[in-house]
Amino acid sequence: MPSETSRSAIDYPERIRRARLPTPLEPLARLSAQLGVSLFAKRDDLTGSALSGNKIRKLEFLFAEAVRQGADTVITCGGEQSNHCRATAVAAAQLGLGSYLLLRTDDPTRPPAIEANILLDRLVGAEVRWVSRPEYARRAELFVEVAAELRARGKKPYAIPEGGSNALGAWGYIRCVEELSAELPPGPATLVYAAGSGGTGAGLILGVKLLGLPWRVVGVNVCDDRDYFVRVIGEIVEQAIERFHLDVRFDRSEIEIRDGYVGRGYAKSRPEELALLRDVARAEGIVLDPVYTGKAFYGLTRELARDPRAFGERIVFLHTGGIFGLFPKAAELAPLL
Ligand SMILES: Cc1ncc(COP(=O)(O)O)c(C=O)c1O
Repeated sequence: MPSETSRSAIDYPERIRRARLPTPLEPLARLSAQLGVSLFAKRDDLTGSALSGNKIRKLEFLFAEAVRQGADTVITCGGEQSNHCRATAVAAAQLGLGSYLLLRTDDPTRPPAIEANILLDRLVGAEVRWVSRPEYARRAELFVEVAAELRARGKKPYAIPEGGSNALGAWGYIRCVEELSAELPPGPATLVYAAGSGGTGAGLILGVKLLGLPWRVVGVNVCDDRDYFVRVIGEIVEQAIERFHLDVRFDRSEIEIRDGYVGRGYAKSRPEELALLRDVARAEGIVLDPVYTGKAFYGLTRELARDPRAFGERIVFLHTGGIFGLFPKAAELAPLL
């Protein structure tokens, strides 16, 4: 197995190693033939098992800061089946810290079943508070309230934003770009990823700039819309440039987002998306998730159907994980199998 590069052109902030890195870059021969492009998957679904997916790359940097500040509990938030919250809870347990999750659900008095990511959250001992959509909209205030509550209990909390998406978390995907630059033969390429809270996109954009690579970075949003992601990703990139004094030029007009693939809404699936997820599993033995990578891959194939050269000759699809999101969809998938 290849080992992590010890020397780097980039001066990274401190991190706690938790992810299995580097993740493999795999050519997808059968899908490439079907789509008429040279398609690769960056297998960030293989960063771990319970800890799998993109979030752990960001959390390595965020946990390093939490530990340095003497925290003993991390607070974070997300949707009820959040991969980010699950990864945070698992990483916290691995490091001997506690975790407190604010999970958004339709009716907090009737919380969802303990399955998939929620099962893992509970298994590793996360404290869960169910919050309604209106409460979630004011999550910044909730973080302050929960932090005060934890302090009153004698804890030292550290707050991690939704998706681990901030200037520090973005380093996780700067590092991923550096990894990719060692894996992919030189030349132009387009990186395609699912945009959920913006941190992955921000890190990819920064990494490509810092390393001066001839690569495009294209997000497919799985919630909200293009304007929202240009703002959110733009803010993270700008904050990272300022906080870490990065020597790069950036303008929000450079952010590429392909909108139009949210479908029935965040975490809601259409039969055509699930059918493609099945077809990818059968063609390549790769399991996408219905909430993020399945939608982004669906968007990628629709864009290629419209314009076979939309992303050039060579495409790297970021498989950012999310497998546990499949399990609550078993009943919807069953008729397609
Ligand atoms: C599996 C998976 N893929 C992609 C994303 C999107 O990444 P980001 O939140 O950094 O935009 C997430 C989380 O939001 C995720 O859990």
